[in-house]
Amino acid sequence: MGVMNRPSDDIGRGASSVRHTARARRAAQTLVDEVREGLARQPLRELPCKYFYDDRGSALFDEITRLPEYYPTRTEEALLAAHAGAIVAAVAPRELVELGSGAGRKVRFFLDAMRGRGRLERVQMLEISEGWLRASVEALQADYPEATIEGVVGDFVHDLEALGRGGERLMLFLAGTLGNLHPEAVPGFFRQAAAILEPGDGFLVGVDLVKDPARLHAAYNDAAGVTAQFNLNLLTVLNAQLGADFDLVGFEHVAFYDADAQWIEMRLRARRAMHVRLPGAGVELDLAAGEEIRTELSCKYTRESFERRVAGSGLRLESWFTDAESLFASALLRRE
Ligand code: AVJ
Repeated sequence: MGVMNRPSDDIGRGASSVRHTARARRAAQTLVDEVREGLARQPLRELPCKYFYDDRGSALFDEITRLPEYYPTRTEEALLAAHAGAIVAAVAPRELVELGSGAGRKVRFFLDAMRGRGRLERVQMLEISEGWLRASVEALQADYPEATIEGVVGDFVHDLEALGRGGERLMLFLAGTLGNLHPEAVPGFFRQAAAILEPGDGFLVGVDLVKDPARLHAAYNDAAGVTAQFNLNLLTVLNAQLGADFDLVGFEHVAFYDADAQWIEMRLRARRAMHVRLPGAGVELDLAAGEEIRTELSCKYTRESFERRVAGSGLRLESWFTDAESLFASALLRRE
């Protein structure tokens, strides 16, 4: 889905309930800059994982969430079904904000609880995939007509300011997407999140937990090969957006758990030496046989390692909900 150049979509001015941040309107240039910078990195080239999520990539991720090996989605859904009511009662929000809302399903646990308390006024969904955002904003507006549902096309690293200041706000960052940030970037991210919250506001973060490496490995190397397709789709996105000539059969999916770093790393490995042109980015690339490009970090946390990253951000861990197997946690943070 292309990003439209419609300045009238700015806050409060357009008729559309989906607006673009200034950065999202410059998406084409941002892509070029990020791809150039990432592919030049040594000793390991990198591509930003947010570019997985074109329409096809978003559909592939949705398929991943239903795979037998991929435990995070169903585990988190059970946690939210059990605890959303208590979280909403504790925070008493009028506004719900979701970062990286994806298909927009989990948010309904919270909207139902807010409706039940008669305090459902405003919803803002920040999402990079415009197609998914439009579909979920429409579906939510139909089912929650009493609320104002707004979509913002943007990314959660650069665009939090576009959500305005909080106050009686509950913000959600689900699915373990926090894991896509390098752990050293997490304290800065939490400080930025705290800056758009008022004292007493809530921030619910989905945290994928450190666990048996075999279980993690299976979740990112599923038998049906959907994760491999999802990973390779990144090259399809670059071929389409930058006129690149990545030969998809020349690459294989790699995903492994680094127990020291406590993260899953996804890479694409060149099966043979290749010369790749990315005219839209003004880049030509020589890849050696066996050379790998890192495409995603998915960091795993313990309660302790998570709390260390929260410390000093202006947020405080109030509750930690987890399942019987300690696969996944929902961490309720409060703005101090
Ligand atoms: C959407 C970032 C939570 O890290 O598990 C799934 C993305 N990558 N399989 C994750 C993903 C490979 C997912 N997040």
